Amino acid sequence: MSSPKGGPAGGGAPKTATTFGEDTVAEARELISRYPQSRSALLPLLHLVQSVEGYVSQEGMTFCAEQLGLSEAEVAAVATFYTMYKRRPCGEHLVSVCTNTLCAAMGGDAIYKRLQQHLGSESAPLGHEDVAGTPGESGSVMLEHAECLAACDLAPVLQVNYEYFDNQTEDSAVELVDALRRGDKPHPTRGAPLSDFKTVERRLAGLLPEDDDEFWTDVDGPSQAVETMRGAQLAADRNWTAPAAPADVPLPEVEAK
Ligand code: FES
Repeated sequence: MSSPKGGPAGGGAPKTATTFGEDTVAEARELISRYPQSRSALLPLLHLVQSVEGYVSQEGMTFCAEQLGLSEAEVAAVATFYTMYKRRPCGEHLVSVCTNTLCAAMGGDAIYKRLQQHLGSESAPLGHEDVAGTPGESGSVMLEHAECLAACDLAPVLQVNYEYFDNQTEDSAVELVDALRRGDKPHPTRGAPLSDFKTVERRLAGLLPEDDDEFWTDVDGPSQAVETMRGAQLAADRNWTAPAAPADVPLPEVEAK
């Protein structure tokens, strides 16, 4: 059944040719060629599927299985494990509110609840991974609560399409989603300018705009926050260092596969 170099298992016309055309197949092949074993390209291919469909449909999973010579069950096991793969159509934007411990204590829970009611209503708040608006249309927004987004020093934080908006309040979060619903793209606190969920999914797949100098300037530019650097500065001022790792600790044996 399997096709070690990728490609439809068993030959014949792929079942997903309508949704995923020749260009997508060519991009999938290019991604697969970057790995010694084709199955290692599953995560990028699932992002590629999301960049086309805005989520991972059953057809999307079939596409990945066909391209990689995997069973649909193997693809489904991965696609349903990671929260970055959406099983329902996402909006133009994905808004992720951190409700993990530190953000929650600093107001993240309140921000999430306020956005649920603001994007839905008091009596019918928007649920986790529900969409305000119509997926595929400008200004549509999927709302989710997220685990630690690795910016605890800037809590409470939220992300739009994985770009950071730091030090949020209930009101600033409402202003932000209102701007998104109008079709605006406010600049994140740091990092690259805002685009949309599907565009970001192409980048996560590994399809980067190599000739776009502006993109690379944004991505490579300074993105550290003052709050984050403050800890490093304090440590330097006080001569704090991390304990050195013992040099003679042997690495554990790793079983060959
Ligand atoms: S708890 Fe929210 S970023 Fe860590």
